[in-house]
Amino acid sequence: MKVLALLAVVLTAVLAEQVNYDGYKVYKVTPRSQDQADFLKSLEDSGEFDFWDHTRLLEYPVSIMVKPALQASFENVLNLKYMHYSILIDDVERVFKFEREAQLRAPKVEKGRISFTEYHRYDVIQAYLENLAEQYPDNVEVGTFGTSSEGRSMSYIKIGNNPGNPTIVMDAGIHAREWISPATALYIIEQLVENQDYAYLSENINWLIVPVLNPDGYEYTHTNDRMWRKTRSRGSTCYGVDGNRNFGFQFGGLGTSSNECSETYRGKNAFSEPETAAYSELVKTLNDVPLYIALHSYGSWVLFPWGYDYVYADDNDELQAVGDRIANAIYNVGGTRYTVGNAAYLLYPAAGASDDWMKSTIAPLSFTLELPGGGSQGFDLPASQISSVVKETWQGILAAYSYVSKKY
Ligand code: ARG
Ligand code: ZN
Repeated sequence: MKVLALLAVVLTAVLAEQVNYDGYKVYKVTPRSQDQADFLKSLEDSGEFDFWDHTRLLEYPVSIMVKPALQASFENVLNLKYMHYSILIDDVERVFKFEREAQLRAPKVEKGRISFTEYHRYDVIQAYLENLAEQYPDNVEVGTFGTSSEGRSMSYIKIGNNPGNPTIVMDAGIHAREWISPATALYIIEQLVENQDYAYLSENINWLIVPVLNPDGYEYTHTNDRMWRKTRSRGSTCYGVDGNRNFGFQFGGLGTSSNECSETYRGKNAFSEPETAAYSELVKTLNDVPLYIALHSYGSWVLFPWGYDYVYADDNDELQAVGDRIANAIYNVGGTRYTVGNAAYLLYPAAGASDDWMKSTIAPLSFTLELPGGGSQGFDLPASQISSVVKETWQGILAAYSYVSKKY
């Protein structure tokens, strides 16, 4: 009995250990010919390398994380193909360690407050939402719409109180490691609720925002594995489903995997995940959603449907025009350049994503914003850059709002 108990303790300790990225390197490789692009695709399909970007557009660099044991052969094969590469991150663990230490040093926010100088844990985000609901009862409603696999409550915030108004819907954090995404949603919430200059934004339109759509994964990136992407539902051999392959439109199509252990595992069936299932039910209670925006990182892309295959939407021109407005507004703040276009053509086809489901179900204007990466660090945008990213993105949101409010 004692032995068993001890074993349990040891096992939990092992399971709770941080995944270590000692000596992992990130290479930057830019395909310059179709042949090289195809070759990169075959490397990605081999499943041996962790591609941080997926576009195959020529002249667009991709970042690829390679574990120490494969680095020599990886470099060899690039040389054989005459592909130029540079080393973006020499030791991934060092970058993550630096980030962990910065998080520990960061000043603690007062309970119920939020800040944009560090990334916040789930409980801090929850406390902020609850505080807003208390402080602004006339304009704000905070509620729980479901429970994650590990039992965390899923919260939404509704801003604006006229039930007859249309609703703009946004979510963040479906992919756990994309930390800048929840941070941006929180900034948008802060501006809408607490900045009186923007009170007018919720007069004619309501906002429904879910700042952390995958709370289990998000916490897991803080406690165990900084690079975790999926949910934390238990499979038979691996954990987690890619939430953005789990929506019920064209489920199971291109860019999705049936392998539980894959980063793009779609799940057993559409809405198998409690997080996406509950979210879809929440959205279906709305009757007029002119605009949907999913916040992701990274890559500085404004993507729009269809994304499940190489198919242009009937209203492709309007989607492009609104996307361009978002990108221009962001560009005007500090020169950050987004690329705007159809998700499948620009990035890659991925079926069962939220943007396509929203467009097919309720939201004619539907976008996925891939926020900027940290220059060299990708998902690991340094905390010192949170504030500039959230502020420029806010201008993009304002541009989308102004289009929608004029149209309706
Ligand atoms: N990075 C996002 C993902 O992989 C892009 C999704 C774009 N939308 C789409 N329907 N393909 O989930
Ligand atoms: Zn993502």
